[in-house]
Amino acid sequence: MPIAARAAPETWGNRVNHALLSWQVPGLETSGKSGDGNRGRSIQPVTGKWQNVTGTGSVVPFSSDAMRTDKPLLDPLPPRQATTLGLSCKRFLKQNMKITNLLLILVTLASVVIFPNGAWAEPKARMMKAVVVHQYGGSEVAKYEDTPRPEPKENEALVRVIASGVNPADPLIVSGKYAQQFGTHVPLIPGYDIAGVVEQTGSRVTKLKVGDAVYGYPLMGGGWAEHAVVTEGETAPKPKSLSFVDAAAVPLAALTAWDALIDTAQLKAGQTVLIHGGSGGVGSFAIQIAKARGARVIATASTANQDLLKHLGADVAIDYTKQKFEDVAKDVDIVLDPVGRDTLARSYAVVKKGGIICTLVARPDPAQLEKFGIRGASIAVTPNAANLAEITKLIDDKKIKPIVTQVLPLSEGVKALEQAETHHSRGKIVLKIADEPKE
Ligand SMILES: NC(=O)c1ccc[n+]([C@@H]2O[C@H](COP(=O)([O-])OP(=O)(O)OC[C@H]3O[C@@H](n4cnc5c(N)ncnc54)[C@H](OP(=O)(O)O)[C@@H]3O)[C@@H](O)[C@H]2O)c1
Repeated sequence: MPIAARAAPETWGNRVNHALLSWQVPGLETSGKSGDGNRGRSIQPVTGKWQNVTGTGSVVPFSSDAMRTDKPLLDPLPPRQATTLGLSCKRFLKQNMKITNLLLILVTLASVVIFPNGAWAEPKARMMKAVVVHQYGGSEVAKYEDTPRPEPKENEALVRVIASGVNPADPLIVSGKYAQQFGTHVPLIPGYDIAGVVEQTGSRVTKLKVGDAVYGYPLMGGGWAEHAVVTEGETAPKPKSLSFVDAAAVPLAALTAWDALIDTAQLKAGQTVLIHGGSGGVGSFAIQIAKARGARVIATASTANQDLLKHLGADVAIDYTKQKFEDVAKDVDIVLDPVGRDTLARSYAVVKKGGIICTLVARPDPAQLEKFGIRGASIAVTPNAANLAEITKLIDDKKIKPIVTQVLPLSEGVKALEQAETHHSRGKIVLKIADEPKE
C-alpha cells in the first residue's frame, strides 16, 4: 500500500460537517439551558422577563407568544403567591406596555439593518480557498473553490498553510481506488504535507502554540487549502534553515524513507543500500539519510536524473534505461523499492543472506524471501512527530535537504495531480498557498 491506509476515525468531510454544526445558531447557547425546552428553536429572550399571566391563580412563564405551548415550562406557583404576582405583573405590563412595544420595534428594526439576510439566525461558516474533490475520478475532478474552513477539535490545531507538498498519494486518493481501505470519503481535500503557522489550538493541545512555525503530515490530508487541522503527533517545528515552501516538500517522503531505512531495516554505518527511484520524492531523501548514517549507496534513475543521484551523494548511480541494476549491485544489505513489479522481482537476488527488501508499493513474495534467506517488509508510513523531529535536526545540521523542482499556485491542483501520477517526478513539487511570513 502506498500510503498510511489506516482507516481513520473521520475525514475532512466529517470535520467540515462538525464545523458547520458548531456554527449553527450560536444565540441558542445563551437561552438554551439544559432541559428548558428552547434548545434548537430560535433565539429567545431570557425566560422570566416575558411572562404569560393566566389570571387563574398560576403563572406560567413562556419565552414569547411564538413559543406558547400548553405545557408549563416550570412548576406552577402556589395560588395566593401567584395571584399577587399576577396582579403586580399585570400592572407592570400595563404601565410599561408602550415602552416594551417601542423597544421591540427598535430591536426588530436593528436586526433587519444589521443582518439583512437573516444572518443572525445562521451565521456563515468562515471560508477558505482549497482544492476540493466532490467525486472520485481523474485529476479533472479537483476543483479550486471556496469551502468552509475546518474547525479544530480539542486535540487539534488550526494551521494557516503557507505551502503544501504533492505526492503520488494525492492522485491515488482522488481516484477513490482505495477509498474503503484508506477510510476516505468525499468531499475531500488532498494534501499530505503542510508547512504553516499555528493559528488556533484545541483545549487538549499542550505543545503547539499560536504563532508556531510547523510542518507535518496530516494523516487524513487536507493540506491543499488555506487552513488545515493537525494533531501534535502529526507535526514538528519547521526546520529553521528552510523556507515554508521547501519545508512542505519534506514530511511524507522523508518519513517514508526514515520508516524503511531506520525503523524497519535498522540501517548501520558501513552497510550497502540499493535505492531504486533515487531521484523521486522518497528516493531523494533515502539517499541522503543513508549517507548521513554512514552507508554506501547505490541508486537508480533514468538518464535525465543521473546528475541528481550524484548530487544527492550516491556512490554509484545506475541508469535503469541503459543498464541492469543487478549487473552492478550485488550482496547489498538493504533494498528500498518504490517501483514494484519487475524491479521488485529482480531485486531479491541482489540482497545478501540476512538482508532485507523494503517495498513501498507491493508485498514481498514469501517464496523469494525464503529462497534467498532474506527478509521483506511492506512499508505503510504514518505520521510520526518524533521521527520528523529527527529529520528536522538533520536538515538544520545541513545533512539533508529537500529538492524542490516545481512550485505551483494552489489554483493549479489539477496540474499537480497530473504530474504526481506520472511517477517520474524529479525531487518534489510544492503548492505555494500564501506568502512566506516573516519569522
Ligand atoms: N507505502 C508507503 O507508505 C508510501 C509512502 C510514500 C510513497 N509511496 C509510493 O512510493 C512510490 C514512490 O513515491 P515518490 O514520492 O518517491 O514518487 P515520485 O516522486 O514520483 O518518484 C518516483 C521515482 O521513481 C523513478 N522510477 C520510475 N520508474 C523507475 C524504474 N523502472 N526504475 C527505477 N526508478 C524508477 C523515477 O525516476 P525517473 O523519473 O528517472 O524514471 C522517479 O524518480 C509511489 O508509488 C508512492 O505512492 C508509498
